[in-house]
Formats: sequence, structure tokens, C-alpha cells
Amino acid sequence: MTAAAPEPKANMGKPLSRYDAVSKVTGRATYASDMPLANPAYAFLVTSAIAKGRVDGFDLDDARAVRGVIDIVTHENAPKLKESKLFSNGGYAGTTIQPLKSPDIAHDGQIIAVVIAESYEAAREAANRVKVRYTIAAPSATFDSPGTTTAAAKGQNAQFKEDPKVGDFAGAFEAAEIQLTASYDTPTQHHNPMELFTTSCAWIGDDLVIYEPSQYVYGLKNGVAEQLGIDAGKVRVVNPYVGGGFGSRGSMTPRTAIIAGIARRLNRPVKLVATRDQGFTITTYRAETRHEIKLGASRDGRLVALRHEGAELSSRADAYCVGGTKTTTRLYACPNVDSLVSIVRADRNTPGFMRSPPEVPYLFALESAMDELAVKLNMDPVELRRVNDTTNEPIGGKPYTSRSLMACFDEAAKAFGWAQRSPQPKSMAEGDWLIGYGCAATCYPTQMGPAAARVRLQRDGRTRVEIAGHEIGTGAYTVIAQTAAERLGVPLEKVAVFMGDSDLPPAPVAGGSNSTASTCSAVMMVCDQIRQRLFKAVMPDSLTDKAKETVGIGQAPTTQAAKSDRPLDLEKAFDTLGVGVVEEYGEWKPEGAPLDSFRAMHSGHVRLVGGHQMKDKIAYAFGAEFVEVRVNRFTHEIRCPRLVGAFAAGRIMNPRTARSQLMGGLIWGMSSALLEATEIDERNARYVNDNLADYLVPVNADVAGVEVILLSEQDDHINPAGAKGLGELANVGTNAAICNALYHATGQRIRKLPVRLENIE
Ligand code: MOS
Repeated sequence: MTAAAPEPKANMGKPLSRYDAVSKVTGRATYASDMPLANPAYAFLVTSAIAKGRVDGFDLDDARAVRGVIDIVTHENAPKLKESKLFSNGGYAGTTIQPLKSPDIAHDGQIIAVVIAESYEAAREAANRVKVRYTIAAPSATFDSPGTTTAAAKGQNAQFKEDPKVGDFAGAFEAAEIQLTASYDTPTQHHNPMELFTTSCAWIGDDLVIYEPSQYVYGLKNGVAEQLGIDAGKVRVVNPYVGGGFGSRGSMTPRTAIIAGIARRLNRPVKLVATRDQGFTITTYRAETRHEIKLGASRDGRLVALRHEGAELSSRADAYCVGGTKTTTRLYACPNVDSLVSIVRADRNTPGFMRSPPEVPYLFALESAMDELAVKLNMDPVELRRVNDTTNEPIGGKPYTSRSLMACFDEAAKAFGWAQRSPQPKSMAEGDWLIGYGCAATCYPTQMGPAAARVRLQRDGRTRVEIAGHEIGTGAYTVIAQTAAERLGVPLEKVAVFMGDSDLPPAPVAGGSNSTASTCSAVMMVCDQIRQRLFKAVMPDSLTDKAKETVGIGQAPTTQAAKSDRPLDLEKAFDTLGVGVVEEYGEWKPEGAPLDSFRAMHSGHVRLVGGHQMKDKIAYAFGAEFVEVRVNRFTHEIRCPRLVGAFAAGRIMNPRTARSQLMGGLIWGMSSALLEATEIDERNARYVNDNLADYLVPVNADVAGVEVILLSEQDDHINPAGAKGLGELANVGTNAAICNALYHATGQRIRKLPVRLENIE
């Protein structure tokens, strides 16, 4: 433990170092494309140079002449694949656009051919020699492009069920003492995880093994089986480590079934490593959004009317949308609320999940508008949040299971030194630099999915935990190992965790920040099954089940596991039972999950539950973020020397890995305000900066002080682990906090992201 590890407060686990730290830094952690394959062929993708139209023909002679080329697969000879429904419509796919099915082109960068060769270099060389003849049509790139179509999201997308409303918005807004109307824009962004989009497929007879970075091995398995028309039991997806996901690997992309089909035809393993620029178009991304917020308030700052209208870009084929109004209409007390989400279709690849999909764009709008309202009211923005804090969400009146929003504001304000702020814009400066302080709220729904686990305990304390969860860089191995160690009272070093394999007991998508809550709840439950068995062996029957639950076992009973100092002698229990190994399997289902969840997980899609969808309550994690910006008076260069966030997310399983997640989130939030945007050539509906040199992300020089404060919070109404999930909490609201600070520094309100020096007047 180093000094950097935060001290655990009440209801927090130990700040242990990562279970997989040494494997990762020594290169022993195996990522999907590291997996050894016997005599693989290499695939290289050819992607469309136009966004709309069709392929009239290929000239492949030059490409075929490259030594080592085995085959070139186009729509004329591609393996036939079945369709898969969109993830948000109950399927697994991130897009229903099926490349290689026909000569039609739906977006720039669509896969139009796959070159297979004896080496990566030969495949790449041949791919560069493929000549394509196109019929080109004029594409619609984005909002305001001619030819886009707009329609309400409701009814188009199964996951978007309602435009929340309550009371009489129009009347209340009209009558409000203070009114605010403002519009906000957020740009296209791409996840750019470090690990490229790779797929290796190997058939052993009728069985298919897929090595691919995935946030959902069960989903990918089921989806590829569906597309290939084979039994899901024949498909195994393996990825013990994933080099970043951020949502880009939650749903299936078309490449996987294509590579699997080619490998089957060749009767040889095929390995694809798509290039960085191809990753921009063969997977998903965060779509650009537009918002109009209307706030009506009384002079004392109480909201009387709130309306949030959002529009999101999607592809022609799919109605993907994030619909963040589900959150923004419920964050503050307000009796009259209205909302509407629309989907705008253009000639683009289908967007998808990207870290905090609904909250990043929608809270940018709401939390910017709250700051604008505070200015109109001449009120401290923290006090404006306090006046509108609530214990019940206003749409259905359901109580929050716990809500520490204002406690987060108070802690973060204190640590930041908010009291030193002089409220007048342009009133703080140092030399050539204008100084601005700003803040915003963050929140993220507590979500969970059904998860199963198998735990094996040996007489010597060695423990094996199996669960098809995912290590996407978050620390999942660590908190799962910690949970088992605490629950069984065995040392952490004796616990081995196996994840990232669809042959293991099913777990949900590692998305929506549900992983810790779901997997740890399942592992806790199964460890308790083991405890029960061992106790039955050595305890007299007179001891009640309750006592059996609360007495620790093993050598090192810890806080969660033991409320008594009567450790159970493991060896004695095993000897009494006359066994060498105790193994248990169990399926944990969160409240509200369908009864047939586990049958469905083996063959169908299972939705996450929680957030605002719970029956008689609503569960969210909260936080408050404060930032300092500095704007150079002459060059307008923008710096962000300080980011301070305080967060409350139920039980913190491991303060060290939690802090890493939240710190990364704050930095990403700053990035979403000042750096990140995928630039679009509107004539050609094409991404221009599709590489890590031109797509701006923060480097160390962009990040000065980041402070994460973890609040102690206990919530017994969410899941057995008591964890709310925080992977997607800290990058929400930061964009608004920065624009609010920029207003304070310069007096200029900027409502369109990202903010670059040319946007400062
Ligand atoms: Mo996250 S965008 O739900 O992987």
C-alpha cells in the first residue's frame, strides 16, 4: 500500500493493489490477439471510400498478385449470415447494417472486402491494391445536412419507453417569475480504447472459439451463433483481459461473424487486427446531440417548471438513442416537467454506448442551464442545487434509495475552496490569466444484471472463483477476489479469479456500471452457500442459521464476513465432511429481473435493471465536481489546473481502484469539455481525425491537480454487495462544470462542446 491509496472510511473495503498488476506490467496478461493460434491466416479489411451509394465492381488482379494472398472476400462471395437485432431492441448487435451482404453502402468506412493472406503484411499490401468502382450518392452527414429525417424516439427503440412528464409544464413556465431558455450541443466522440478491435476465430470441428476484446462474452457468443445459424453451445468467447471498453465492446460488431464464417470456409484459424482508423467506422461511437432546456423558477430559486428536449444522431438503419431525459427530469425537485427525445437519421454508422451514454450529453445541458439560472437569480450555484434537492424523484414520486448529492457538494466545495470565489465574472485573475471557478452535479443510475458464479474452496484455503465477468481495466479481478477472500475468510493471495470466458457461469454485459454490483453480489451469495455447508459440518444444530451466517470462517475473518471472533477451522470442517474440495454454483438475480433470466442468458438477451426502473424506489449514485480554469487574456489558451470531485456510491469495495475509476472519469470529463471531438467532413459524411494524433485526448501535461473524495454511504436497498457502481459517475457533469468555470473566468457562456481557444471571444 502506498501513500496514494485513500484511507477507507465506514462501509469501504481495503484499498488493495490490483490483483492483476504484476501480470499487466510484465506483459504476462494475455489479450485476445495474443492468444496463440495454429497456423493462422491473416485478415485485413477494405473499407468504403464513400458514405452512400453502391459498389459497382472490384478490380482485384493487382491484389491477387501479392504473394501469400489466399482469398479476397466481397459481397459476391461472402459467407451468408443471418441478421441480429440491435442491442437496444433485444438483440446483441451494435448495428443492423450488414456489410458484405449486398453492394449497398450505408456509411463511410463500411467493410466492403476482406483480404486473407499468409501474413499480416501481405494482407495489408493486397488490401491497398483493391480497386473499387462506386456509384456515389450525396450523403447526409449530421444535423442540418439536407436529407436527414427526424422523428420522436418513442416507438422507434424498445429501450426508450417514455418521454417523462408531470404536471403542467407550459402553464407553470409561462407563470414563472424567472425563465431561462438555452440550447446546447455536444459532438461526436470515439472511445479509442488502447487495444485495437481484433477478432481471432478458430474452429475445432463444429466448435468455434473466438478471441476478441468484449464487454459481454455471453452476448457475443449468442449473437455470433445466431448470425452463423449454429447452436450457441458451439461457440466460446475468450478474453481474460480487455484493453479498455468504454462501451465500444458491449454490443457485437459485424466483423466477428464475418471472420468466423471465413475461418470456417478456409478450415483454418483467421486473425484480424483492424487498424485504428477502421475502428472509427466498423464499431460504434458517441453520437452528436442537441438540447433545448427551459427552466422556470421562483425568485428564491425553486424550480417550478423544467423541460428538456434532446435530439440525437443515428444511422439510417437503426434508431439508437440514449434518452438521457430519464435522468435529467428526475434529478431535482420540480412539480411541472416535460421532455421529448428525437432521433435524427443520417448516412452514418450506427452510434452506440460510450461511457455514461445518456448522462454525459444530457447533464451537460441541464447542469449548464442550472448555472445560467443561478446567474439570473444572483444565487450561489451550490445553493441553487440545495434549494432543489429532493428525497423523491418528481416524475413518479419514488424515493431515492439514498442520495448524498448535497453532502458531496459540501465536501467538494470545502476541499476546493469554493468560499474564496468572488462570484462576479472576470473578477479573479493572476497575471495574464483570468481565473474561473465552476461546479456541477453528477449522477449515474445504479444498475444490475443477473449473474452466476462457481466457487471452489480447498482444505488449504485455496479458492477458485469462476464468473464470466470482464476485466476492462476497472479492477474487476481485484474486487471479486477481495469479495471472496473477505466472505470466506481466506487470504487474498489464495484466491484465483477466472473471468472473460463464455464457458464460465454467465454474467451480464460489463456496461452501465453494473459489474461490481452484479458479480460481487453473485460471488457473495455463492461464498455464503459454502459457509453454510461448512458450518453444518462442524456446528451443533442448536446454532441458528443466523449465527451461522454471522460467524466468520477461515484464518482471517474480516469486517464483512465476521461479526464474531470465532473463526471456523477450515481443516476441521473439511475433515468432518470427509472431502478435499467444497464447490458451489449459484445464480443471483437482482430485484426486478425476469424469472427466466438464466435460461435467457444462455440463449437470449438479458436487460439490466435498476436506476429509475425499480418498482417503488429509484437508485442513483451522486457526486459534485468543482473545477478551476485559467484563460489567457491574450492567447485565449485554456488550462484546467484543478479538478475536485466528491462521490457517494454506496459501499466502496476498494477505495484504491474506485479512486482510479473516478480520477479517470474526471479527466475524461475535462477532455469532453476541452478536447474531444470527432471532426466530420460534411460533404462526404466522413470522419477526418480518425487517429490518435488528431483526435485530441488529454496527456499528462493537460492534467494538473485531480482530487477524488470518497464519501461514506450505506445503502441496504440496492443489492447484497451494497455497491452502486461508479465507473461512469465521474465523467458526467465535468463538461458543464468547466463551461460554468469558463463563464466565471470570461463572462462568456459557451453552449457547444468542445471549447477550444478559438471559441473564446
Ligand atoms: Mo458503458 S458505455 O455502459 O460500457
